[in-house]
Amino acid sequence: MIFERLAAMLNKVIAIDGPSASGKSTVARKVAAGLGYQYVDSGALYRGIAWKAAGMGCDPAKSAEVVAAMGRMKVYFFVEAGAVRYRIDGIEPRAEIRTERVSEQVSWVAAIPEVRAQVTQWLRNMAGLGDLVMEGRDIGTVVFPEADAKFYLDASPEERARRRHAELKPAGETADVNRVMDSLKTRDQRDSGRKTAPLKLAPDAQVVDTTGLSIDQVVEQILRRLRGNG
Ligand code: CDP
Repeated sequence: MIFERLAAMLNKVIAIDGPSASGKSTVARKVAAGLGYQYVDSGALYRGIAWKAAGMGCDPAKSAEVVAAMGRMKVYFFVEAGAVRYRIDGIEPRAEIRTERVSEQVSWVAAIPEVRAQVTQWLRNMAGLGDLVMEGRDIGTVVFPEADAKFYLDASPEERARRRHAELKPAGETADVNRVMDSLKTRDQRDSGRKTAPLKLAPDAQVVDTTGLSIDQVVEQILRRLRGNG
């Protein structure tokens, strides 16, 4: 226990926050690989809880139901292939947490203070597992306000909708680009407007506008800034 606490204090954390489809996941994964750190997708945990709670018959808008269901979930974390991953009740959810249905439900679930408190605790404990690049909405503001470096990725709403639309197509989802843009807008509003840990720019975060930049250009920019020559 003491060793884990000490390791958590010594390990480094790079926080990458920003709105939906700003490119965080791909960028954060590549930055982590470039640094030899572990990648953490905090949104995948909120998605996993929303998906599992719905599977247990909960209405995601009913906080008490979701909190009770979360208390019955057994969540287990492990490090593999450069990332901290998790299983809920023995299952590692993948494509099933990326559907539009889960995307619509997750921002309700993520607005529940008890859910946030539990997920924040899990995320903080991960610092005992190694150096981390963690992406989300509140990593630099709430989860690790003392992070070694903080980035805030953004892009125009049109570009973000185009990116998300392109991701959904291979997954077999057929939403048109305008519907995707509406759904992103609704989720952004809920994420920025909620009382607990809303999406906002940390005063000490470096902003990267990814509109018109390739993933590799963004990754390069972040790595250069981390090396102190950006
Ligand atoms: O990839 P995408 O931008 O669609 O979102 P995500 O990172 O998978 O996160 C899904 C949802 O989880 C967000 O819309 C937020 O409601 C919530 N979330 C959060 O509240 N705090 C985080 N640190 C990460 C995600």
